[in-house]
Amino acid sequence: MDASGPEDTTSHADRNVERFSRLFAAGSYAPKYPAEWLIRAHNGYIRPRSQVRRVLDLGCGTGNNALFFIEQGYEVHLADASNTALAICRDRLGPGANLHLLEPDWEELPFESGTIDLLIANQVLYYLGGETRLRSAAREIARVLAPGGHALVSMIGPKNFYISEFGEKGPDDVVLVNFPAGFRIQDPEYVFPIKDEQHFAAVLAPLSPISIGYFDHALLDVTSSFHWLGIFRLDV
Ligand SMILES: C[S@@+](CC[C@H](N)C(=O)[O-])C[C@H]1O[C@@H](n2cnc3c(N)ncnc32)[C@H](O)[C@@H]1O
Repeated sequence: MDASGPEDTTSHADRNVERFSRLFAAGSYAPKYPAEWLIRAHNGYIRPRSQVRRVLDLGCGTGNNALFFIEQGYEVHLADASNTALAICRDRLGPGANLHLLEPDWEELPFESGTIDLLIANQVLYYLGGETRLRSAAREIARVLAPGGHALVSMIGPKNFYISEFGEKGPDDVVLVNFPAGFRIQDPEYVFPIKDEQHFAAVLAPLSPISIGYFDHALLDVTSSFHWLGIFRLDV
């Protein structure tokens, strides 16, 4: 049966969250250290220019990125749609951690409008579904950001080997990634790739792009780990 056919009642976002919960529970996805590009963007751009008090990490996973922002002395809120991820964060950060469970559709993020100075969404937005879902999530991100606040966002691109080697195009330009037998990840996932810089800026509107780049590491049998990286701002 086509996984996204009319009989299917579970959304792509729900399936991705269930998949991550299985990976976290099995210990097969457990990044420990912050993503290097977030440190660079923070130290090189955000810190010299803006007064950050409250940080929100959406799709926080195991808390690896949040740890870096906690070390900067900020009030950091961690949010994820996987309870399993949040349990790992609680173990890591202690009972005082600011943890929030998200609905996978992000229709209404559980945060007051205009209260977040810096928002992180690293390797998460492309799990939400197609372009319409993504654009409405971007409007929610803009709602919770304080005027002048920044968002650091990464998105997968078509060159990434998940897509170029294992991807199968589905409805709404969502790509079904089916990993081959023997690959370290077995559960399929659904991702929405961003075509180019203009596409990235368009789906993140009403935020303004400050700088859009990418990383692309190739090592051993991994041909491309391509991800778009973006610094965005909610203009005052
Ligand atoms: C690839 S991991 C990235 C984790 C972390 N941001 C990092 O950079 O290491 C994706 C994370 O997004 C979460 N996630 C996936 N879909 C989500 C959704 N619809 N809403 C909230 N979190 C989601 C997963 O549970 C997982 O923690």
